[in-house]
Amino acid sequence: MDLYEYQARDMFAQHNVPVLPGIVANTPEEAREGARKLGGLVVVKAQVKTGGRGKAGGVKLARSADEAFEAAQAILGMDIKGHTVRRVLVAKGANIAEEYYFSILLDRANRRYLAMCSVEGGMEIEQLAKERPEALAKIPIDPREGIDSEQATHIVTEAGFAPEIAEKVAPVILKLWDVYKGEDATLVEVNPLVLTEEGEIIALDGKVSLDDNAAFRHPDHAGLVDKSTEDPFEARAKELGLNYVKLEGEVGVIGNGAGLVMSTLDVVAYAGEEWGVGPANFLDIGGGASATVMANGLGLILSDPSVRSVFVNVFGGITACDQVALGIVEALETLGEVAKPIVVRLDGNNVEEGRSILAEADHPLIIVEETMDGAAATAAELAGKQ
Ligand SMILES: Nc1ncnc2c1ncn2[C@@H]1O[C@H](COP(=O)(O)OP(=O)(O)O)[C@@H](O)[C@H]1O
Ligand SMILES: [Mg+2]
Repeated sequence: MDLYEYQARDMFAQHNVPVLPGIVANTPEEAREGARKLGGLVVVKAQVKTGGRGKAGGVKLARSADEAFEAAQAILGMDIKGHTVRRVLVAKGANIAEEYYFSILLDRANRRYLAMCSVEGGMEIEQLAKERPEALAKIPIDPREGIDSEQATHIVTEAGFAPEIAEKVAPVILKLWDVYKGEDATLVEVNPLVLTEEGEIIALDGKVSLDDNAAFRHPDHAGLVDKSTEDPFEARAKELGLNYVKLEGEVGVIGNGAGLVMSTLDVVAYAGEEWGVGPANFLDIGGGASATVMANGLGLILSDPSVRSVFVNVFGGITACDQVALGIVEALETLGEVAKPIVVRLDGNNVEEGRSILAEADHPLIIVEETMDGAAATAAELAGKQ
């Protein structure tokens, strides 16, 4: 999960990373009120989960509360790289002397973390990395050791900070490591990390991505989920504990095992070309799924108005085909009126039992197919003709 800047700012503050006071506003009036409370020079910043807000006109200086009102009026509703701005952060303005860059991220390929630091922050860091890679220090971090004060000193030295600034930046890097480790993040990026005219080091911007697999260790992270932009089907799936991703097509897909479901998406996309349809979702019911899990999954997919047909593709291993068949029948009983055809391909463990359960149910909406390609073609055709 990616955080908004204001959420990252709050998290930084909890870990004693120096940040400036700020107030979140949903309307220009709230921005004016926030600017009044903060007093003096403020910056009104679009809260969207994408970078380059400054360049897009989403970060504006305001010298008075009324200017903050006007800035918020201009920024709210703005589209930044496909993200609509619904909120702004009114932050105290900093007297920037210099802008630096610092980040820690998960380096999957090398099975470690990577710290990156530069005395040339603020601008597009991708551009700096491409044009003058020597200006961006990259320091591998052993996950078993992390960043201690010695390592922090090494990072600032490699980045080329003057000694008197290096000794101020190193402790901030330690605190940012504390955020990374303590919150189970996969990315902590500060661009810019600034030196103010007053000689302080402050994190002026913050980008944090949290590892969803570690969510169980952080009950408080649940409160950071933005319900307003979350897909309603994905939210429902999460409640049901289903492995679901919403896609853009018309053929609902359910299978067991991520690999099989991925291949199913491929065959549906291929078969759907002729009919101008494609997969509507990814849904993996996992190994050893019960009839209830199957029924929940089918219920979720059938409730999606863009779904016109469903393809249930199960290769029974740990998951027994009779459980899958029972789940389908159960779902159709509890859901009542669902005028959407369900194409079923079962194979593997208990396939005969599974097929006979479906045959006995003799439901007009269930179509049993022998092969995966055949089932995909039928499901695509049914969705295309609706
Ligand atoms: N609180 C602030 N006070 C003064 N200048 C700021 C403040 N916050 C941001 N800026 C300036 O605006 C630029 C862009 O803001 P930033 O938060 O980095 O957004 P983005 O990275 O999305 O463009 C910064 O590089 C900095 O120069
Ligand atoms: Mg930035």
